[in-house]
Amino acid sequence: MINDRVNQQWCVARRPVENVQPEDFELRSDPIPRCGPGQVLLKTLYLNLAPVMRMYMSGQSAAGEKPLAIGDVIHGRGVAEVIESKHSDYQVGDIVQGQIGWQTYKISGMTDQERMRKIPDRGVSFGLSLASLGMTGFSAYFGFIEHGEPKPGDTVVVSGAAGGVGSIVIQLAKIKGCRVIGIAGGPQKCAAISSWCDETIDYQNEVVADRLTELLPNGLDIYFDNVGGETLTACLDNLAFGARVVLCGSISEYMKDEPYGPTNYTKLRRVNGSMRGFFVYNHEPDFDRAEAELAGWVLSGELTPLVDIVDGFESLPQGLAGLYAHKNVGTAYCRVRRDPYDHMP
Ligand SMILES: NC(=O)c1ccc[n+]([C@@H]2O[C@H](COP(=O)([O-])OP(=O)(O)OC[C@H]3O[C@@H](n4cnc5c(N)ncnc54)[C@H](OP(=O)(O)O)[C@@H]3O)[C@@H](O)[C@H]2O)c1
Repeated sequence: MINDRVNQQWCVARRPVENVQPEDFELRSDPIPRCGPGQVLLKTLYLNLAPVMRMYMSGQSAAGEKPLAIGDVIHGRGVAEVIESKHSDYQVGDIVQGQIGWQTYKISGMTDQERMRKIPDRGVSFGLSLASLGMTGFSAYFGFIEHGEPKPGDTVVVSGAAGGVGSIVIQLAKIKGCRVIGIAGGPQKCAAISSWCDETIDYQNEVVADRLTELLPNGLDIYFDNVGGETLTACLDNLAFGARVVLCGSISEYMKDEPYGPTNYTKLRRVNGSMRGFFVYNHEPDFDRAEAELAGWVLSGELTPLVDIVDGFESLPQGLAGLYAHKNVGTAYCRVRRDPYDHMP
């Protein structure tokens, strides 16, 4: 239960070893901060759950955020309502998205480091701006459309296809007229994405390399990589001429001391292939354009947000552990307080 009279905060209690444990977190309560000149007071509505958070907790610098010390409030993007403003550009009632941290209130000077942006009211839950209409959607949009350069008829392979980014990429690939092969773990996740995929591969119960060879007699045109590791190697073995490999993430390697890298990258040479990494924030000047186009697809029903909502601020640690235990289907985020458009269970 949320206590509206204090600012509740989840902080790093100790460095995680393998998956995060309850003892890695400390719940603190501080007085609600006061708003100074040029600042706003934010009340948190939704908080994102992302694989990168375990890296922050481990003391690593990632996604442009500074490493966390023991005792620091855990970094996390969120959606919040402005409830007091001494900033000329923001009014009470504005909804913003940005670096809130795992806390129920925040004072913000709207600095560049906080990467705040106002969220337009599109008549759908503001929580979606942590999913299809926010950084997850933008990662899929820029990674797939701008770096993958899809053409109708292309064969597209997506790993982590039942995760937040992957579940959007497979739908964008269908919108762009591509043949889609989604890789996910387990029959339930494969079933959840099957309506957007021509084929699915269950990497927990099938040999990915064998299935790719069987399904790709002419190779793949785009591989959208969310997981790295052996799946990346298997895809590099199946490139069509001019294939594009888009490096979005490598979640299979994040908990390893010595991450595995592909030894067969030279396969790119024979097919004039390319491998491109991207970081979503490098596309910041174009976020409004991506948001408008993604919202158009959501409102027309062409893009279905696949979300996995964890209820309650107190549930954040278990929600983060769930990501690494493969529990989420679609984008995971925490509902701290429900907005009026949120009719999701
Ligand atoms: N480049 C960028 O700017 C950018 C931006 C956002 C995210 N990312 C990266 O993109 C990737 C996807 O992010 P997301 O937000 O979509 O995360 P997500 O919702 O947690 O989805 C990731 C999926 O990866 C799968 N997975 C987890 N551990 C795995 C393992 N050991 N081997 C294979 N698959 C595993 C899980 O599904 P299964 O149960 O099917 O395994 C999970 O659903 C992450 O690597 C993230 O760090 C990059």
